[in-house]
Amino acid sequence: MKKLMAANWKMYKTVEEGVKTAEELTGLLGEMPADREVLVCPSLTMLQAVCPILKQAGCHAGAQNFYPSKQGAFTGEIAPEQLLDLGCTHALAGHSERRHVLGEMNELIGRKVTFGLEAGLHMILCIGETIVERRLGQIEEVLARQLESGLAEVLTTARAENLSVAYEPVWAIGTGEVAGPDEVLAAHAFVRAKLKSLLPQEGGRVRILYGGSVKPDNAAAIIRLDNVDGVLVGGASLKADSFSQIVLA
Ligand code: PGA
Repeated sequence: MKKLMAANWKMYKTVEEGVKTAEELTGLLGEMPADREVLVCPSLTMLQAVCPILKQAGCHAGAQNFYPSKQGAFTGEIAPEQLLDLGCTHALAGHSERRHVLGEMNELIGRKVTFGLEAGLHMILCIGETIVERRLGQIEEVLARQLESGLAEVLTTARAENLSVAYEPVWAIGTGEVAGPDEVLAAHAFVRAKLKSLLPQEGGRVRILYGGSVKPDNAAAIIRLDNVDGVLVGGASLKADSFSQIVLA
């Protein structure tokens, strides 16, 4: 199974800057290592410009968000089909900033996973506990609930080729505080077991990414841990140089 090395550019960069970073990144990566797959999720504004650059280099382009409907009167939203039309193949759902800043609930996130998969996108379901939930000893309860509701409608249809889960402890996102190896191992083992029970055929092969302050100097250690099948990188993915070091770590 190839490791999925994913960049989340969040709400950064103009089109010109995105194109420049994508060109630098694909230049630095050169020929893609056989055991790595690279995904970049830029803002919607630059998807059309950035997709062809990534594709030509064998990388994927993904969206950070969409609305779970085929089309319709949803002012300001974008549909999975419209993303596919731009050359986008992947999408995130349930990122902690959407859960905690924009108030998205498990039920909406589950609908996004369902619609995205049905439309033909590879969905990355993001899950993770807050620091308060961790201190209260609720990590497993929170992760179980997020997985159960995120995957509720795709239990028999999801295929490991089209689904990944990103474990991103909220307290480690953008804080510089990375989860320690034991914390990552324990959470990923729990997620793996839960995936196997929810999706008996596919759960063993669904990739589980780690996210939260992944940097060039910690990526190699993280990526080699058991049940870590990739990373989801925010801040350190904005510069081509640092993200390429993470991809090749
Ligand atoms: P970070 O963000 O790498 O800046 O912590 C990760 C993410 O939000 O996916």
